[in-house]
Amino acid sequence: VYLGDEYLTQETKDLLSSLPSEKGWLVSKMYQYEGSWYTKGLIQGVLNCQRNFEAKDSDIILATTPKSGTTWLKALLFALIHRNKFLVSCKHPLLVGNPHSLVPYLEAAYRVSPDVSFSELPSPRLMQTHLTYHSLPVSIKSSSCKIVYCCRNPKDMFVSLWHFGRKLSPEETAEYPIEKVVEAFCEGKFVGGPFWDQVLEYWYESRKNPNKVLFVTYEDLKKQTEVEVKRIAEFIGCGFSADEEVSEIVKLCSFESLSKLEVNRQGKLPNGVESNSYFRKGEIGGWRDTLSEFLAEVIDRTTEEKFEGSGLKF
Ligand code: A3P
Repeated sequence: VYLGDEYLTQETKDLLSSLPSEKGWLVSKMYQYEGSWYTKGLIQGVLNCQRNFEAKDSDIILATTPKSGTTWLKALLFALIHRNKFLVSCKHPLLVGNPHSLVPYLEAAYRVSPDVSFSELPSPRLMQTHLTYHSLPVSIKSSSCKIVYCCRNPKDMFVSLWHFGRKLSPEETAEYPIEKVVEAFCEGKFVGGPFWDQVLEYWYESRKNPNKVLFVTYEDLKKQTEVEVKRIAEFIGCGFSADEEVSEIVKLCSFESLSKLEVNRQGKLPNGVESNSYFRKGEIGGWRDTLSEFLAEVIDRTTEEKFEGSGLKF
């Protein structure tokens, strides 16, 4: 998952030496750039992406915090956008390809080189990022492309991350008790963090500019999937007509369907992660089997403090 130093340019190495850095959970060193924490490989990717990615007006960008439903949204958006090209019933790309193989992760795609071509993507292009709003490449903000943002209850997101990290790197995480990781999470010090700041930024952007940013939560998507999927389709300009069914797409992209597919159960993705790591439980409130009441309260307190006055609740 983490590339070596050979891909880092001298400029990036110089920048890294000037950035705040710390040992983090899962990584021997992480760096703070524009307020967020990254591995050095990702910093290279972010820089290349910020400088070289040219958004088209027709692009659709999925932005998420890690472990907040990225895989699900990738599948849903792909199926929605291309529903006239690929029939759900037969040979749908989602039946033979993991959602992460179909929808590129922008800053990771740019880790190795500044020259990345997305020409193989069917039109309109669909891409994903974990970048916070202020770090997005300028063209994403200045063009008319759409941003669908999805976040999740922080306790469930944390627990998902915890299990994902331990599966990814059992040796490195063994020495990290969950209390320590919760503390780092609440301080925003983990790769992909800080969580609350990113959510708030997209939340305010979505209110300021509702035609540009759509704010979605994993919980709403889970509780009223069809309503939310229709709202997303409307937002990205491919709304459903009164007599068109949304249920087939919802079923195709459901946890139950996707997690049972051979392509999502076996093998590894090009990033080295086992395909099945992206499908664990897919539930709301699953944190209860992992977090003690005390740790849940620690996260709740941080959420209350951070979201106070924003109108956001989880
Ligand atoms: P859990 O670990 O709580 O099960 P991401 O895709 O952002 O990495 O998030 C992963 C989380 O989304 C995991 O949560 C995973 O099980 C869940 N997930 C993956 N596919 C899903 C789907 N189709 N529907 C609902 N949840 C899904």
